[in-house]
Amino acid sequence: MSDETMGTLNNNLKQYTSGEAQPQPQPTNGQSDTWSPTSWQSKPIKQVVKYEDQAAADAALKQLTKLPPIVTPTEIWRLRTSLRDAALGKSFLLQGGDCAELFSYCAEDPIDAKLKLLLQMSLVLIWGSNKPVIRIGRIAGQYAKPRSSPTEIMDGKEVPSFRGDILNGYEPDQRRVDPDRLVSAYFHSATTMNYIRAQLGSGIADLHNPMDWGLGHVGDKELQSKYTAIVNSISDSLRFMRTIGADTSGQLQTVDLYSSHEGLVLEYEQSLTRRLKHPAGHPGAQTSTDGKGWYNTSAHFLWIGDRTRQIDGGHVEYFRGIENPIGIKVGPSMKNDELIELLDIVNPGKDIGKVTLITRYGADKVESMLGGHIEAVKSSGHVVVWQCDPMHGNTRSTSTGIKTRSFGNIFSELSSALKIHKQHGSFLGGMHLELTGDAVTECTGGSQGLDDEDLSLNYTTYCDPRLNEKQALELAFLVAGHYREDAGS
Ligand code: PEP
Ligand code: CO
Repeated sequence: MSDETMGTLNNNLKQYTSGEAQPQPQPTNGQSDTWSPTSWQSKPIKQVVKYEDQAAADAALKQLTKLPPIVTPTEIWRLRTSLRDAALGKSFLLQGGDCAELFSYCAEDPIDAKLKLLLQMSLVLIWGSNKPVIRIGRIAGQYAKPRSSPTEIMDGKEVPSFRGDILNGYEPDQRRVDPDRLVSAYFHSATTMNYIRAQLGSGIADLHNPMDWGLGHVGDKELQSKYTAIVNSISDSLRFMRTIGADTSGQLQTVDLYSSHEGLVLEYEQSLTRRLKHPAGHPGAQTSTDGKGWYNTSAHFLWIGDRTRQIDGGHVEYFRGIENPIGIKVGPSMKNDELIELLDIVNPGKDIGKVTLITRYGADKVESMLGGHIEAVKSSGHVVVWQCDPMHGNTRSTSTGIKTRSFGNIFSELSSALKIHKQHGSFLGGMHLELTGDAVTECTGGSQGLDDEDLSLNYTTYCDPRLNEKQALELAFLVAGHYREDAGS
């Protein structure tokens, strides 16, 4: 779908949900105060999906409304409360996973590899930042991709663009939008989440188990000994806690991992949006008349992409009504006042940490953009989680036309963000990465020394290039090192 193409769902507002429309806090831009899970349908929608078989789409969406939540209000609020800490500088948010998650990644090995990688990265970041780390996977539902063009050339033929497994398949003969995939997306999300919960409950993240850190690839002796020292320090700390018996509270046996995806296909998100009881003790339980709120039960955290964040658009309308913590991608075209207007709409009560701003300017633009955004948000009174996505502003093409990203640019945007936040009396609350636990060759650089010519060795992404497990871990070492040096300076 062309970026410029806007649409609205032409037919009358489709319900695909149950419950009554509820008044929400009045936004400041004159929008109607009546929000419902369907109110987005009357707005212009970018990346709109045209189903050839509307009856089949209706049937699929109706089926989704009857299926149980994948995540619950209690979990959603646990994350929202943790993100409040990240907004206040008391914890750090690590979010990572595939650019386009495929249904076929819903398998033991890729999930295990990602869990292990996120766990190791988080340990390194805890060591470096001296803060608890909140882990969110781009996992168990990251099946929809915004595209800048409705078609693409494959094997010399023009075919509809791949829009993610939730809508069509990657193979050229699978590019027709298939409504059955909406239901399939639910079941793949639920199955992935089930396996994650089972593995965490069974001790995959048990810190009593020895870990393989696999640092053999680091050729640079100085770096190798720096990373080894970090690993030894982490292992020593764990051993010490075991020795003094500080590990008996069950805290070392498992960790939290939350799910997230881009909330792009709004009819899917709507069908999984439920009016549910707030958890006990939650402040909204007093403010709403029925003690309930609207929860998106497809994932703990959802974000609005840089292509769909228009103030008057359907995505912003949908997002302003849900209880989940949300993210907004902030690219170089975002104006300061537009950013504040957006925050006022999606978070009129200025709830601390409700919104994560995911900045993704590019290493060459971060210096000129971030400071202005930080100051604008500061003077607006909003307190957000500032998260750096150093991936999406740093995509480049090789001379042979392969889409890649350089590790150097990725780290450069991250270190600039750390520095600029400090200069402005703010702090970086987290990082957002495209990564995989597999040994892919999609980004160049890092200690393995991958260059443009190596990319074809194992280039398997179906959308953007991801950091492989070694590059991702190395990035965590570098960010941790940055914090340590900063604390020492
Ligand atoms: C993404 O995170 O995969 C993505 C499409 O990002 P953005 O909206 O920032 O371009
Ligand atoms: Co991407």
